[in-house]
Amino acid sequence: MTTSVDSLKRRAAEAAVDLIQPGMVVGLGAGSTALKAIECIGERLADGRLHGIVGVPCSAQVAADAQRLGVHLTTLDEHPVIDLTIDGADEVDPQLRVIKGGGGALLREKIVAQASRREIIIVDEGKLSDRLGTNWALPVEVIPFGWRTHLDFFAELGATVSVRTGERNVWFRTDSGNLILDCNFGPMADPDALAAALEGRAGIVEHGLFIGLVSAVVVAGAEGVWWLGE
Ligand code: A5P
Repeated sequence: MTTSVDSLKRRAAEAAVDLIQPGMVVGLGAGSTALKAIECIGERLADGRLHGIVGVPCSAQVAADAQRLGVHLTTLDEHPVIDLTIDGADEVDPQLRVIKGGGGALLREKIVAQASRREIIIVDEGKLSDRLGTNWALPVEVIPFGWRTHLDFFAELGATVSVRTGERNVWFRTDSGNLILDCNFGPMADPDALAAALEGRAGIVEHGLFIGLVSAVVVAGAEGVWWLGE
């Protein structure tokens, strides 16, 4: 019997949602897998298995979804420390380094991750990778001013770059009004060094490498659900 990717996402989500206790402040990640977790939280709130939690959404879309699903929201101003965040990822390596930002929410996702006591990443097994960059371009959020000046910089780092577009081929804008450059580095030799190089460049707001931020990864695959880390 084959297992659909959708049902794997749901299984990973359920395993992570089991960690939520009444009274917790919960970070709500973006993307289709994280949405499964929000749906699961909504169901457990509705039938009484969960109560007394508030969520910090990682994007405007997540906020709308959470409200629709009956999850009460809060902000980082009201709750600067998050007990547990459940988020998805695009690619995960054995050292729990991940690429995020497929949905363009990487900046808020990283702010929420660094404010979280525990950052739990939920994925289907197709997201596992021996070397980051093998399957996914790295999303880099840049302010619109002077964005073309980064192209040579990325070329020197060995990446080919495309500006993310949305509907009708218009440039995609993040919740902060910035652009996303999808930078294809291929398999990365040293993600930590790459992250440091990107962090030293003016105009780059944030990149999708999450290093040292992930507490554990819940993986769902044909053989079941397993944990990396913790
Ligand atoms: C959103 O910006 C992303 O970081 C997502 O969490 C990531 O792209 C994974 O998305 P899916 O769960 O839809 O694959």
